[in-house]
Amino acid sequence: MEKMKKVKTAIIGCGMISNIYIKNLKNLFSIIDVVALCDRNRQAAQEKAAAYGIDQVMTMEEIERSEDIELVVNLTNPVAHYEVIKRMLLAGKHVYTEKIMTADLGQGQELMALAEEKKLLLGVAPDTVLGAGIQTARRVIDTGFIGKVTSCVASISRNQSLNSETYRFLRGEGGALPYDVGIYYIGAIIAMLGPVKQVCAFGMPAPEHEAEMLFTGEAGDKWRIPGNNLLCGVLCMEDDVLCCLHMNGNSVMEKDTNFRIYGTDGVLELGDPNMFDGQVKLMKPETGECIVPHTHGYDGKNYLPEETPFDGYGHRGVGAAEMAYAIRQNRKNRCSKEYGYHCMEVLFGLDQSAQIRENYSIKSRCHIEPLKPGYFSTQFLRNGRGDAERSLYD
Ligand SMILES: NC(=O)c1ccc[n+]([C@@H]2O[C@H](COP(=O)([O-])OP(=O)(O)OC[C@H]3O[C@@H](n4cnc5c(N)ncnc54)[C@H](O)[C@@H]3O)[C@@H](O)[C@H]2O)c1
Repeated sequence: MEKMKKVKTAIIGCGMISNIYIKNLKNLFSIIDVVALCDRNRQAAQEKAAAYGIDQVMTMEEIERSEDIELVVNLTNPVAHYEVIKRMLLAGKHVYTEKIMTADLGQGQELMALAEEKKLLLGVAPDTVLGAGIQTARRVIDTGFIGKVTSCVASISRNQSLNSETYRFLRGEGGALPYDVGIYYIGAIIAMLGPVKQVCAFGMPAPEHEAEMLFTGEAGDKWRIPGNNLLCGVLCMEDDVLCCLHMNGNSVMEKDTNFRIYGTDGVLELGDPNMFDGQVKLMKPETGECIVPHTHGYDGKNYLPEETPFDGYGHRGVGAAEMAYAIRQNRKNRCSKEYGYHCMEVLFGLDQSAQIRENYSIKSRCHIEPLKPGYFSTQFLRNGRGDAERSLYD
């Protein structure tokens, strides 16, 4: 195939998650050329540029004026997403943003309309749905191994208040477990089972939390994570599959995940959809259980020679790389604006249903094409091979 021109890319937001994004986008995806970093805290951008060997630190205005930069990856905090995405779309840049798309549905609709008008792509995380775990599960389902899917149970529980001692941003809006982590479960359900038509839920707030951990030096401080930190809901999918979703940020556990999909001919047990490497277990009454070998690459393992403390975040950035190929191939990207908005509407709908004690009808719809199977992330002579990348454009 003819070699595609690299997509010159700027990253805005150089905090915690930028470490794995910069590392992956620079080293794993030959379609992306990271040319600049930007942060309202210029020093943060300068430090990351020095650490990861990126040539330029730019202001937002310089990125807007740049004629070379085609794609902006937005890794700012969710409250800043709307402003950053809007400015970059208006400047004619394609934008890929971390979750969640915007702070409210109205802002999301406005940005989707702007991207349409400007004929630009707008992509939205979570991109863990392009990882080996979820893509393998989707393949098993699409191949008919478990028959017709009837229901799904997805549960994530974490002590989010204790977590918020270390990760201070969790004490603010969007820090409740359903928003911070539940969105990965919603994204995975949608990527495997299609769009949601109606939701209902009950919710509970977080308890007031008093700092416990000695190293934070805050013993005695008290706060409460805003919003529903415990949401139990049901998603009724477009084709009448029923999904029970349990997102408990008031749990005593550090992390506990359960995820199963039930079909007329079998059951699938899945790993954590917040990760890329989820194990897929197939259970059938006639033949017992087996682990399904991954059918796709991007399994979250670090295939680069040097290790960093951020490797546990896996193949984050694959959604932006797939979008870069979509730009060159003049097609829609998989982690599309419609997908990002639909995930957000389902989450907001659950929250609203819990508040008003009524079912919420989801207005948006989306569709994600699976990646082509058979390409893996492997090593040869300790060098990463680019074979999984083929699944992003084949
Ligand atoms: N931390 C995680 O584990 C994690 C995992 C997955 C996704 N995310 C998502 O990634 C995004 C960033 O998360 P993070 O943990 O890196 O946050 P962070 O607070 O560590 O970093 C955010 C950075 O964005 C910068 N910023 C904020 N507003 C800006 C603006 N208007 N213009 C330019 N720079 C701005 C801040 O100065 C900061 O350096 C969020 O959307 C979050 O939901 C985080």
